[in-house]
Amino acid sequence: MPEKRQFRAIKGTRDILPSDSKLWNWFESTALKVFESYNFNEIRPPILEQVEVFARSIGAETDIVSKEMFTLDLNAFREIHEYRGHLVESADEPLRFTGWLYYLRGALRGAWETYRIDRNDTNRVAIDRLDGIYDHLYAGIEDDRILREIREDRSKHHEIYALIREAMNLAMDIRIFPDIAVLRPEATASTIRAYIEHNMQALPGNVKLYYMGPMFRRERPQKGRYRQFYQIGAEVLGQSDAPAIDAEILEMLMVFFKRVGLTRTTLYVNSIGDKNCRPQYVELLRQALLEVKDQLGPDSQRRIETNPLRVLDSKLPHEQALIAKLPRISDHLCADCREHFAKLKEELKLRGIVYEENWRLVRGLDYYTRTTFEVIAEGLGSQNAVCGGGRYDGLVELLGGPPTKGIGFAIGSDRAILSIQESGNLPHLPGLDVFVAWMGEPTYATAVAIARKLRESGVSVELPGEEMKFKKSLNLADKLGARYALIIGSDEVASGTFTLKRLADADQKKLSEYELLEYLESEKRDTRG
Ligand code: HAM
Repeated sequence: MPEKRQFRAIKGTRDILPSDSKLWNWFESTALKVFESYNFNEIRPPILEQVEVFARSIGAETDIVSKEMFTLDLNAFREIHEYRGHLVESADEPLRFTGWLYYLRGALRGAWETYRIDRNDTNRVAIDRLDGIYDHLYAGIEDDRILREIREDRSKHHEIYALIREAMNLAMDIRIFPDIAVLRPEATASTIRAYIEHNMQALPGNVKLYYMGPMFRRERPQKGRYRQFYQIGAEVLGQSDAPAIDAEILEMLMVFFKRVGLTRTTLYVNSIGDKNCRPQYVELLRQALLEVKDQLGPDSQRRIETNPLRVLDSKLPHEQALIAKLPRISDHLCADCREHFAKLKEELKLRGIVYEENWRLVRGLDYYTRTTFEVIAEGLGSQNAVCGGGRYDGLVELLGGPPTKGIGFAIGSDRAILSIQESGNLPHLPGLDVFVAWMGEPTYATAVAIARKLRESGVSVELPGEEMKFKKSLNLADKLGARYALIIGSDEVASGTFTLKRLADADQKKLSEYELLEYLESEKRDTRG
């Protein structure tokens, strides 16, 4: 007997069940409609990307990259990395070297078979050759005489050392690290990788893209924070960094939030300068932080060295008064950044977008320049950011593309939907329209035919596959939340009519097929609005 075991979803992941997925679908399809009305088009990047795509863009020192990435091939990598280290150490000892080569070959073969190594010709040839070298070395060390001679006088068997050198070079040359796949922690970097790969800078005008899908971060799960969570994001890439682009993307965001009834929100905006003014400010901040270093917690102390801006993110109560006295970026922006920010604020006013300035809004990803923003929703507790974004003008170049400006945001769908649910401001979403209550085998063919026709005209229909007693049938229709029961008995078949019963008030109509289709279709049109 197999062990009785109940499986559960992995920590930090969850099932979105039908009771919620209707709301999710509505949320996502509303985003799609709003974004398309702003001429954004969908991109679907893969969920797996090379680790470097994120390490380079989000920043190797950020929490996301340094602690939270789900790396798929780490074990294979570690093993191979470790064996390569042993090869180098034992290069002077043919016996040990050959032993480590044996293990390395196994690990490489395994990684090759399971597609964890790039299966290109160079790697294939290298792995085959390592096999050949191993066989040679093995044959050599099996012979005691040769081994003894090697120990006494290395020069006698220089071909063995030549093989060792060759094996070492080949082993080192097999590129593994950049091919390590990670589950994407966000999709801005993926979108930009795709933008460059597909030469999208050649497209006319600004390239306006949106995406939706799961992201993965190994964070400590709590309310509103998951290891698999969902984002809906939008990015604008092109040659212009006009503040109107920033304002339009914020307008689109707030229009969407309003459309889905997410209204108890605050939009915070900030400018964090660019490569001309930020370095001086960061230095100034570092000096100011050093002066109060012993009053700061360990995280902030560490960040003085790694990323002083992130200290501004701190939520520790005792650090707040100290942070309030630190120099503010708004007083240190260069003329261009100051003008960009001033224009953005004018644009927001022009569009009637309500916002608050927040000089501490620096964001946890390294790629931002100038505009940063976040939307906070009420009632979510500590994980209350439902959207974050900003400008990232140097990022395309950083990932190997041409000079390009960019800005975007990502909405956290889990949190936004949670907030809508908690506000009780839920949309009315259509459920099951019709339950077909057929009675008696001779009515079954009619039931099947009408169910198909209704479904073709956009009506949702549940057709029981087995005959049920009338009462049981209506009972189930009720439990399933159907609006109508379509009753088909021998009388109906004989007279070529259907009885449509509205379950809310038991109102009943006798209709011909034509009338039935007409009636349900028009009703559907009305409820859709
Ligand atoms: P982010 O601030 O890291 O930005 O994430 C955006 C949103 O995703 C957050 O405001 C939050 O709602 C949601 N989120 C993040 N982590 C989790 C989690 N563990 N569980 C649930 N929700 C979460 C970015 O990802 C950038 N790529 C945004 C962007 C696009 N910037 C420019 N373009």
